[in-house]
Amino acid sequence: MPRVDAIWRHPVYQEQLKRIDELERDRAFCRHGLPHLLDVARIMWIDALEEGLADELPRDVVYAAALLHDIGRATQYEMEEPHDIAGVRIARSIMGTVEDGCAFSPAEQDLIVGAIGAHRDGADAASPLARLLYRADKLSRPCFACAARPECNWPEEQQNLAVRV
Ligand SMILES: [Fe+2]
Repeated sequence: MPRVDAIWRHPVYQEQLKRIDELERDRAFCRHGLPHLLDVARIMWIDALEEGLADELPRDVVYAAALLHDIGRATQYEMEEPHDIAGVRIARSIMGTVEDGCAFSPAEQDLIVGAIGAHRDGADAASPLARLLYRADKLSRPCFACAARPECNWPEEQQNLAVRV
């Protein structure tokens, strides 16, 4: 997926991901590094296939949304700006400055940042991409195996207390 690889290689993406890893090094709760991002991408794509959405949602658009959705996390930790809002801005900047020939179209970029902006509350249910991202982000967390669950501020009814599909 050359367009996804170009996001991965982008210096701003790499810098942000490194900052997130550093800032979450001692975090007991969910982290937001590459393992989480890939879990979300793969769950989204499984759901897209099962729901028959693969024709309308290119796989690299799904993966780009997943890889970028938490990119505002370091800004949230350092500047207290909500990471969905910071993430929209950073994702736009990254997608607008990728290598020649690897850019998503303006419509695809709008779709991706719309999903990023809605991924915390699922507000943009009108977009299948936003719905897939919101669901996969939550499903990706194995709360039933998490040592920090007693202190987690996620409402218990939203936690994954068993392996779910
Ligand atoms: Fe996430």
